[in-house]
Amino acid sequence: MKVLVIDSNPKQEEISHSKWAAEQYIKALKEAGHYVEIWPIYQMNIPVIDETTMNAMSKTSQGIDLSEEEYEKLELREMILSRFINFDHYVIVSPLWNFGIPPQLKALIDNIAVAGKTFKYTEKGPVGLMEGTFVHIQASGGIYSDMPEMEFGHRYIKHIFRFLGLEEKLSLLIEGTNLGDFERSIYQETLDDWVRQSVKEVM
Ligand SMILES: Cc1cc2nc3c(=O)[nH]c(=O)nc-3n(C[C@H](O)[C@H](O)[C@H](O)COP(=O)(O)O)c2cc1C
Repeated sequence: MKVLVIDSNPKQEEISHSKWAAEQYIKALKEAGHYVEIWPIYQMNIPVIDETTMNAMSKTSQGIDLSEEEYEKLELREMILSRFINFDHYVIVSPLWNFGIPPQLKALIDNIAVAGKTFKYTEKGPVGLMEGTFVHIQASGGIYSDMPEMEFGHRYIKHIFRFLGLEEKLSLLIEGTNLGDFERSIYQETLDDWVRQSVKEVM
């Protein structure tokens, strides 16, 4: 299986709990024979939707010629999208920042959630066009399992990737990393169980 890991944390693995967990999942996926590609999106050129992009999209739909800048913006978006859709399993790795996802991850999603490509509108509402599965690995300083309405990171990722047609497998929410008593050595058993189960599920 072809696996894409979207690493949306600018921190190094030693100080990022979500990356630490992802590393172990990646290792197990590789050992099980899967092809794994990693996108460190904070080191990639991921365009945000700006005025140039909006003008380019509008002109394209009207058949109007694009400026060089507009053309380049759309070409980069299309290149990211065409590379993105080629996988069977997606692993989204992110910290919870201000109750939501990092801006670079939102920028990536804005490049790949495209009507007619990854979802379409029908008489019965929008339908996802992607096939495959995903898991989300998120670390948060606080604990949200008792107050899920305050949390817009995992809830958003779950919603948008399902919207695109992907099936969610068991995601990993590492909670309470800032509460003082969080220790990787204590969490390791939970992580091992999750990795074991998750690798079985993508077979
Ligand atoms: C800019 C910023 C915003 C944060 N916002 C939240 C938040 O809203 N809720 C929370 O529980 N933790 C928050 N945290 C703490 C992180 O979620 C926590 O450190 C987590 O472990 C980050 O994931 P990582 O260890 O993979 O980097 C924030 C941290 C940073 C740097």
